[in-house]
Amino acid sequence: MEISITVNGSEARHDVEPRTLLVHHIREALGLTGTNVGCDTSSCGACTVHLDGEAVKSCTVLAVQADGCTLTTIEGLAPSEEELHPMQQAFREQHGLQCGFCTPGMVMAATSLLDEVPEPTETQVREGLEGNLCRCTGYHNIVQAVLAAAKSGGGGTTVAVQQ
Ligand code: FES
Ligand code: FES
Repeated sequence: MEISITVNGSEARHDVEPRTLLVHHIREALGLTGTNVGCDTSSCGACTVHLDGEAVKSCTVLAVQADGCTLTTIEGLAPSEEELHPMQQAFREQHGLQCGFCTPGMVMAATSLLDEVPEPTETQVREGLEGNLCRCTGYHNIVQAVLAAAKSGGGGTTVAVQQ
């Protein structure tokens, strides 16, 4: 089936098999390998992207279901190549990552969280990110990063200028 998705601001048309998962389409056809596959079973959140503005685990969506949608991946979050998104900057400053494998999914989930709850409590951050697993950090610095981004007022997606 031919599908058309607006990916990080540009239209991308591809022929896909109906069984192709969106995460595989993103990595293999679109070449955007910032979106990771951790579990393939909707448990880890490493594959989180924004589909029509909502955070989704892209291993739970078929590529054909994204036909006609707007997709933002971690590669499309920063305002420019020289500048990090405020959420990425906060992860950097607060040491919210170690190996980095979970980080794209965490950042996508966290920006979506701040769209819904711009000034979350620590508990709301922990609950909002409970679908995203990290095997390195113990979560503390991730939570601090999200709180810092919220405090800066720029951690949601609305400030992002897509490429
Ligand atoms: S790879 Fe999608 S939730 Fe783990
Ligand atoms: S930083 Fe390694 S899995 Fe989160």
